[in-house]
Amino acid sequence: MSASFAEHGYLLIEDFVSEDWCDRLAQRAGELVAGFDADAHRTVFSTKTVAHAADRYFLESGDAIRFFLEEEAVDDAGRLNRPKELAINKIGHAMHDLDPVFSAFSRQPQLAALGGGLLRQPLLLQSMFIFKQPGIGGEVSWHQDSTYLYTEPMSCIGFWFALEDADSSNGGMLAMPGAHKGPLRKRFLRKAAGLTTETLDETPWPDGEVVELAARKGSLIVLHGLLPHYSSPNRSLRSRQAYTLHCIDGAAHYRDDNWLRRGSHLPLRGF
Ligand code: FE2
Repeated sequence: MSASFAEHGYLLIEDFVSEDWCDRLAQRAGELVAGFDADAHRTVFSTKTVAHAADRYFLESGDAIRFFLEEEAVDDAGRLNRPKELAINKIGHAMHDLDPVFSAFSRQPQLAALGGGLLRQPLLLQSMFIFKQPGIGGEVSWHQDSTYLYTEPMSCIGFWFALEDADSSNGGMLAMPGAHKGPLRKRFLRKAAGLTTETLDETPWPDGEVVELAARKGSLIVLHGLLPHYSSPNRSLRSRQAYTLHCIDGAAHYRDDNWLRRGSHLPLRGF
């Protein structure tokens, strides 16, 4: 399995978690959203406009549980144009440490075993519950996760759980097999003036194969931090909920100009 990961930059493992676990996570996310005051925090998450990057609610979400809205769910006057439970883009970024249900899911033994086989000293850095709402679930443009979670040497690995069936009809994931062997193209980082994206390497994405990672409910996709991946908007009538967990190696240096930060009250922990 680790030979395939090294060759292709990803693994797709069907039936990694039970349907019951998927439903429990979805239910817990719904409970968290019910407690979210959408009038107080209208931060839209977009991979295209990055307006969220100037927003303290986003900037300080590395050690919190916060809620980000879909671009198309907020009108020009800043009002939600649909119920909040259908307007949420994602919840992030420390639910795996702050919420007991997400913590238990994120530290289940078979995941700990897998993570321990891929990283020497895995630390659970970032979690997100991604709603990919029917009709409006936004595009996530081609990117490498190490752009956002940078260590020296690079060690970011993403664990992406399909909580519902995900395919090309509802914004499932595409990837470029083997392209993790190329360089990191960009870094998203903190500067005195705020968050910015810096180009590290102008090498274009390779022209090679693009594969659709169709993932049935309960599947796990493991992503190398340098693997380019993408998901299209969800224009279908069904949602495509997913939970993602990103780990880094505790033996690597996590740069303090990374966008995602934690206060000393909540140190990173392993599985
Ligand atoms: Fe990603």
